[in-house]
Amino acid sequence: MDKLLTDRDRLADLASLHILDTPPEPEFDSVVRAAAAVAGTDAAAISLVAAHRQWFKASIGIDFVESPRASAFCDHAIAGDEALVVTDALSDARFAENPLVLGAPHVRFYAGHPIHSPGGHRVGSLCVLDTTPRVLEPAQLASLRALADHVEVLLQKRLDRLPTSAAGDDSGHHRALRLEALGRLAGGVAHDFNNLLTVILGYSELLALDTRLPADVQDELREVANAGTRAKRLTRQLLAFGRRQVLRPKALDVAEVVRGSLPLLRRMVRPGVELQAVSDAAPWRIHADRVQLEQILINLTVNASDAMPRGGRIEVRSSKVREPIEGVRIDVIDEGEGMTAEVRRRLFEPFFTTKEEGRGTGLGLATVHGIVEQSGGRLIVHSEPGRGTTMSVILPRTTDASVEPPRSGIGKLIEERGDALGGTERILVVDDDAAVRVFMAKVLRRAGYTVLESGTPGDALLIVEKASEPIDLVVSDVVMRRMSGPEMVHRIRERWPDVGVVHVSGYSSQGVPVPDGVPHLDKPIAAAELLGTIRTTLDDR
Ligand SMILES: Nc1ncnc2c1ncn2[C@@H]1O[C@H](COP(=O)(O)OP(=O)(O)O)[C@@H](O)[C@H]1O
Ligand SMILES: [Mg+2]
Repeated sequence: MDKLLTDRDRLADLASLHILDTPPEPEFDSVVRAAAAVAGTDAAAISLVAAHRQWFKASIGIDFVESPRASAFCDHAIAGDEALVVTDALSDARFAENPLVLGAPHVRFYAGHPIHSPGGHRVGSLCVLDTTPRVLEPAQLASLRALADHVEVLLQKRLDRLPTSAAGDDSGHHRALRLEALGRLAGGVAHDFNNLLTVILGYSELLALDTRLPADVQDELREVANAGTRAKRLTRQLLAFGRRQVLRPKALDVAEVVRGSLPLLRRMVRPGVELQAVSDAAPWRIHADRVQLEQILINLTVNASDAMPRGGRIEVRSSKVREPIEGVRIDVIDEGEGMTAEVRRRLFEPFFTTKEEGRGTGLGLATVHGIVEQSGGRLIVHSEPGRGTTMSVILPRTTDASVEPPRSGIGKLIEERGDALGGTERILVVDDDAAVRVFMAKVLRRAGYTVLESGTPGDALLIVEKASEPIDLVVSDVVMRRMSGPEMVHRIRERWPDVGVVHVSGYSSQGVPVPDGVPHLDKPIAAAELLGTIRTTLDDR
């Protein structure tokens, strides 16, 4: 059968299990613990391979819950009925260039046994991983298979438990497939958009600051930059909806994230809208991806602001709750126009919007709903026409004590140092998108740096080889043809071990993770952000 067709049936089968994005369950957790113990590895997972991502129903020793399918080892494991064993990924042509090998989590060893759905399709795999090469004894492999069989039993049980309406509900899984397709489209468009926006936003910001231009021209340029900023928000939304992010859930202090987001949120609300944050003195922590939590806050706040065309007050409140689940509740409360029963009913549908064209996308709450569902949380709506709206999100608490370190103080640095963000060091800029590269080079030259440019990693390596003076820093795209940014940097460091690095990337769909500790900017890039990051990186060397 045609491969795509087989995959379509496989995906439909996977969808009918209604398992993707469900909260962790102890039965599955024990299987991965057993698998890691049997194989003697630190990491193991039950990976389900969806249309364009792999998602872990259970995992240990891995700090993300889903990643792009393109780089998933498990996608290879489901090609056949036998276990796939990769003794050393670096000496295996299929995986040597894989981003999960070259960057975090630095996979060297992988063994995965396919998992069949009750319908007979290979929907995923039970896998064990390690950061050093290994071999598995036949007895260990047999145990891995036995555990994979056990997962199949758990899936069958799950299917038996599903209400018949859900199990046989075609519209349900067709909807899921349609959403995946939409997501893929949205994510793809957003990627190209981000490159264009870097240029539009970048130049209009630069020109708006050019004092040689008449004031009215500068004002008009600011309008262009404002529109660019709105477009940037929209692409973020599309990326979030299209799930084009590598998720990194961590223990987060909600109140701290809310406080950190306030300046951004204030810039997003209409003039005349006042925004306040209130929180418990000693809040619990939740286990979530920071970018996703910010996405929730942005979507709810912008909606609240849109509901108050004549201005008013928005309160973002975070507090501990024990009901209906133990967790942290975030209320976004507005005094706006409220919603009718009909709007309340359709609220979470993708593309449902009551706003005029150009204002609403109808993706905001669909995205929030997806994130909350995936986190095992709850979403509660209180709203009546004319009486304002309270949108409440409850995210389950975690007892994980480790807290993410606060973000680097780039914003603060820019505030403090303003124009003094330049320098005289030598910087190599590598990006295969010419317009983005030229823009970055221009910003850096204006700030006083000596800039070398290259459109490919290969040329960049040549420049480095021929350079008579050391290069102080490399600014590089992450995803490029032939060689990834991190890999190119690795080679450059063979010649200049002390070179500083800043990565920029459009989106993480190809899943090239950036090595830990390397500063990283998302496109579209603002000039100040670029200069600030480069200056800090140079100073930290
Ligand atoms: N705080 C709110 N007050 C009134 N209506 C709201 C509020 N939040 C959401 N809505 C309604 O839900 C619809 C869908 O919201 P959303 O998914 O964020 O899409 P969008 O904001 O692009 O329209 C909105 O168009 C609006 O009718
Ligand atoms: Mg919205």
